[in-house]
Amino acid sequence: MPEKSNSQKNFTTKTDESFEASLRPPFFQDFCGQKKTVERLQLMVEAAKARGDPLQHILLSGPPGLGKTTLAYILANAMGVEIKTTSGPTLEKAGDLAGILTNLSHGSILFIDEIHRLQPAIEEYLYPAIEDFHLDIVIDQGPNARSIRLNLNHFTLIGATTRSGMVSAPLRSRFGMNCRLDYYNVSELQEIVLRSARILNIPCTPEGALQIANRSRGTPRIANNLLRWCRDFAQVRASNLIDDTVASTALKLLEIDSDGLDEMDLRILQCIIQHFNGGPVGLNSLAVAIGEEPDTIEEVHEPYLIQQGFIARTSQGRIALRRAYLKFNITPPPSSSQLNFLETLTPQNPPLSSSSTAPTNS
Ligand SMILES: Nc1ncnc2c1ncn2[C@@H]1O[C@H](COP(=O)(O)OP(=O)(O)O)[C@@H](O)[C@H]1O
Ligand SMILES: [Mg+2]
Repeated sequence: MPEKSNSQKNFTTKTDESFEASLRPPFFQDFCGQKKTVERLQLMVEAAKARGDPLQHILLSGPPGLGKTTLAYILANAMGVEIKTTSGPTLEKAGDLAGILTNLSHGSILFIDEIHRLQPAIEEYLYPAIEDFHLDIVIDQGPNARSIRLNLNHFTLIGATTRSGMVSAPLRSRFGMNCRLDYYNVSELQEIVLRSARILNIPCTPEGALQIANRSRGTPRIANNLLRWCRDFAQVRASNLIDDTVASTALKLLEIDSDGLDEMDLRILQCIIQHFNGGPVGLNSLAVAIGEEPDTIEEVHEPYLIQQGFIARTSQGRIALRRAYLKFNITPPPSSSQLNFLETLTPQNPPLSSSSTAPTNS
């Protein structure tokens, strides 16, 4: 199943497999940003290669579109090994997993996307496979039931998840390395847009790329999708060149504001402020009020709104922070102690705007 978010968001996350594949950086040196994660992974690859060992199991977590799948492919390239991919929801029977595992060669990589959606029974099967490289399968039923042990080649499991909190503790503890991907800052996104524009042969100025980067919510996949939209716009309404003006006009047409917030983000903020008096409001009530799936709010919209200091998650529910009120030119309520307390916990200078050299308005 594709990431839920993709099917449920508007234009900006529509996936196009071939488009994405063509832009996917194949090597570490083409992968912008995520410096610490990349450094750790490169070190692991170097050490494993020097010893002639397969790579340790790796768990990659973070919101959709930040490069988890890309990194899994990069790791396979760097190790010079084969990669097989599957995803949590598509593995329905233990037999499916056994079929995949028994076909893995020594050192090769098994990539399981959305690993938090694995069924518990299948997860149980995975434990001995990733820990001791064997599988115990039960054949026949009732009195004839027998368990046979299959030995597996020493492979590497790379798991990806958008919900690291939903990966069970026993599974999580079996990964040798746990990497969390963060949103990208504007200059990294600008670099990604310029790289993609070169690959797609789209003339794009650094200023045009900056406009796109500013509205990409810290997410390379969105940046690439917006670039594609700007290309179409430039082709039809301008002279094929994506510059500052063309990009900002094209993006205005999509109604994505200068903070990268789309219509749904704005509805969430407005709903918390106006409908629920600033919160706290539970996820389900919020979802019903704006007519969106709770999962989509939690996986796609909320992480960015929290990271940017618009809302906060408390034990009683979501609350709107000062920045959210200011966005709608509403005076924040006389600062309640809860709001003040939470604001001290919210990054004062969220990475996106702090590291940006870009104008915040356009
Ligand atoms: N660090 C990066 N540098 C350049 N492009 C990137 C980077 N991370 C992601 N991308 C682009 O974003 C797209 C989505 O990345 P992907 O790995 O599929 O995200 P995820 O698996 O986390 O949802 C890729 O096709 C790739 O073109
Ligand atoms: Mg992916």
